[in-house]
Amino acid sequence: MTAEKLEDIEIRLLLEALHLRYHYDFRNYALASIKRRLRVAREQLNFETFSALQEGLLHDPALLPRVLGYLTIQVSEMFRDPSYFLALRERVIPHLRTYPSLKVWVAGCSDGEELYSLVILFREEGLDERTLFYATDINQQALANAQAGLFSLDRIRLFTENHRKSGGKSSLSDYYSAAYGKASFDKRLRQRVVFADHSLATDAAFGEMQLISCRNVLIYFKRPLQDRAVGLFKDSLVRNGFLGLGAKESLRFSDHHSAFADFVPSERIYQRRGE
Ligand SMILES: C[S@@+](CC[C@H](N)C(=O)[O-])C[C@H]1O[C@@H](n2cnc3c(N)ncnc32)[C@H](O)[C@@H]1O
Repeated sequence: MTAEKLEDIEIRLLLEALHLRYHYDFRNYALASIKRRLRVAREQLNFETFSALQEGLLHDPALLPRVLGYLTIQVSEMFRDPSYFLALRERVIPHLRTYPSLKVWVAGCSDGEELYSLVILFREEGLDERTLFYATDINQQALANAQAGLFSLDRIRLFTENHRKSGGKSSLSDYYSAAYGKASFDKRLRQRVVFADHSLATDAAFGEMQLISCRNVLIYFKRPLQDRAVGLFKDSLVRNGFLGLGAKESLRFSDHHSAFADFVPSERIYQRRGE
């Protein structure tokens, strides 16, 4: 048996152990990137083999957050792909205005960049006070970071530029103050945000959302898991509610394709069809 095949078996067993012991389910994530990230974890955590890492994980719960840190990718930006946020502003917001109250779910919110972008956009459009935001992720550290609302000051120039390109109506600097090399975002932005540990792989749907933004998460999943997640979105959206995906993601091959209509195809924004 080649070393490569043996490694695949060890990785499958490790993912199985992670699921059985801690209920984190990475078994249906795209294998190439899981492998890459587990190799880095094994090296940096000083385990000889994946089997040794598996044994360590089974017996030492303190290893779990460290391994999860390697398995989940936290790359994000505020107003990432500004044209997406511009399309929300120009095309989706006019529909959302017709609701007396709104629920928005940011699934896979990472350290909060996408969440703050949406809260600021809703504030600029005068919808923040009637909106409840749900920000979810499986990475506890990322959720804690999102809740703290601190971002390195050297990222602010990019965020400001993105905000401007997204049709921003105010100055981003209105929403943060600089402290200890960090931009600290105004806690009032978090007043109507519920942060929750929720997995698209194992948890249930949320109810009655008008907008779900889940960007750059499905790309890490295999087809069956993508279908599970999109099924949750379908069940969580009100009729005619909106779903926004990342620039490299699409519903084209989804089992649930027929439940959605293209709304702004270039920005991967879909609308839930009525029954
Ligand atoms: C690359 S980040 C995307 C951040 C942000 N949505 C954006 O587009 O900039 C992917 C996020 O998905 C989260 N994630 C991975 N698997 C998940 C799952 N099963 N359920 C919920 N979130 C998950 C990761 O922890 C990470 O925070």
